[in-house]
Amino acid sequence: MSVKRVLTGITTSGTPHLGNYVGAIRPAIQASQAGDTEPFYFLADLHAIIKCHQPELIRQSAKEVAATWLALGLDTEKAVFYRQSDVPEITELSWILSCMAAKGLMNRAHAYKAAVANNTEEGADPDFGITMGLYSYPVLMAADILMFNANRVPVGKDQIQHVEMARDIAGRFNHRFGEVFALPEAVVDDSVAVLQGLDGRKMSKSYNNTIPLFLTEKQLRKHINKIKTNLLEPGEPKDPDTSTVFQVWQAFANEEQTALMRKQFEEGIAWGEAKKQLFELVNTEIGGARERYNELLEDTSSIEKVLQQGAEKARDVSAPMLTKVRNAIGIGAM
Ligand code: TRP
Repeated sequence: MSVKRVLTGITTSGTPHLGNYVGAIRPAIQASQAGDTEPFYFLADLHAIIKCHQPELIRQSAKEVAATWLALGLDTEKAVFYRQSDVPEITELSWILSCMAAKGLMNRAHAYKAAVANNTEEGADPDFGITMGLYSYPVLMAADILMFNANRVPVGKDQIQHVEMARDIAGRFNHRFGEVFALPEAVVDDSVAVLQGLDGRKMSKSYNNTIPLFLTEKQLRKHINKIKTNLLEPGEPKDPDTSTVFQVWQAFANEEQTALMRKQFEEGIAWGEAKKQLFELVNTEIGGARERYNELLEDTSSIEKVLQQGAEKARDVSAPMLTKVRNAIGIGAM
């Protein structure tokens, strides 16, 4: 049986937080270590510039994301780990695909539709602030995926539509030009937690409710203390299933620890005490990686070296693939 090629991108426009860790980074690194797939993981910096036009933030985020994945033990022998903008074949493919992708398909993309809806609601021009980058975002993402014939694309629920669009575009292309692209499939792992943030909504940069992954111990403790709770006093039974503290606990605890915390909730554990225990649990899991993370951020040339090696491996695949695509559509050398 052939090994499945798994591919996912991380948009480099923010600081990795516990939600990213639990929902995407930890499972991806585990998959890379399991060795039964061929993982391609990349820094999606061309996606980052769609919404973020602050060069310093983009640069800093790319460093932080790369350092995070490396510090947490991504095996770069097994996984191809690269920066999207280091693989120029992707942008060329993106243009080619945009000549196959139906505009009507792009009109239906959630991110674009949300932007239009927002403008309409505010009485602004429907296109206000909408760039071609935002509009064509799903085409670039299709290029990311189809370039490497990825079979499986692990994503959050909000990204399923984009993977389906990539599949749609690949199908059209193959139908017209012959079997060039593998048809990708989105993989959403329901056993992986979507973490709640400080205010109880989904932890997300856009809600400004995140707990960054690699804070100092002191800051981590402070952030955990900020998780919203109700006003129940020590000794009063608390409902674990509506509590963010418990939900985050569950994402880091084994079964036995989870059962124990559930019992403590029923017995009326004080919020302060539950948060203290949560800090210890999270800190134990990520404490070792935090040191490596800080070392890596001080030594960006070593990150850069890893990324260059990754880009080389990626281009070993993307360059011949692009030749095949060019041939199929009739451009290039005579
Ligand atoms: N758009 C994705 C996100 O915001 C990131 C991404 C870019 C991606 N290219 C990809 C994910 C290709 C999977 C495959 O989360």
